[in-house]
Amino acid sequence: MHISDKEAWIKAREQIFKRIREAPPKLFVNDNLELHIEKVHKWGYLLEPNPSYRLKIAWDIHDIDRADEGRVERGADESFEDYKQRHQERSARLGKELLTCIEARPQLIEDVFHMVSYHDHGNLETVDPELRRDYLALKDADGAAFLDSFDEYILKWSLAHARKRGHKTWEERLTDRAKSLQDIKDLWETFQRKLHDSS
Ligand SMILES: [Fe+2]
Ligand SMILES: [Fe+2]
Repeated sequence: MHISDKEAWIKAREQIFKRIREAPPKLFVNDNLELHIEKVHKWGYLLEPNPSYRLKIAWDIHDIDRADEGRVERGADESFEDYKQRHQERSARLGKELLTCIEARPQLIEDVFHMVSYHDHGNLETVDPELRRDYLALKDADGAAFLDSFDEYILKWSLAHARKRGHKTWEERLTDRAKSLQDIKDLWETFQRKLHDSS
């Protein structure tokens, strides 16, 4: 017997915030995961006003790797892409464990696993067409939340890194649908202005 998708979302959300609260504070130096999740929801609802439960679960737990003692850190000689690859794979695995533990539907678990596995980068062509819209709404919401976090992230990154990531987010990560929304255009302009003002 499996719980409903709605119950799975409520429980998954409770658990991710519980993990964040109970994690050692050193995990979150210059990195407010709770705030990030709320920003992902804020931008997510703009993109997808009636999200499915699997999408809401993915918004909540896509960075679960960061709420755990063994969080993935970038190695000294590691490329940013390789580091993100390890981060998204670990998040997908931990998310799957959480959803299995609360007895979510197997198909829901698989869908969330697949979306989270590629939330930072991956080949869109490999994504099941049925999942594609939710998958892109996860990436768009996460990308917009990044652009909306300049003030937080600038504390841990150099300006050059913020600039590079900002442009990559706009050019490669956000979909044309997201980029056509006035609120997202305004967000990008604000991000660029902050970059300029900090230079
Ligand atoms: Fe992530
Ligand atoms: Fe994220």
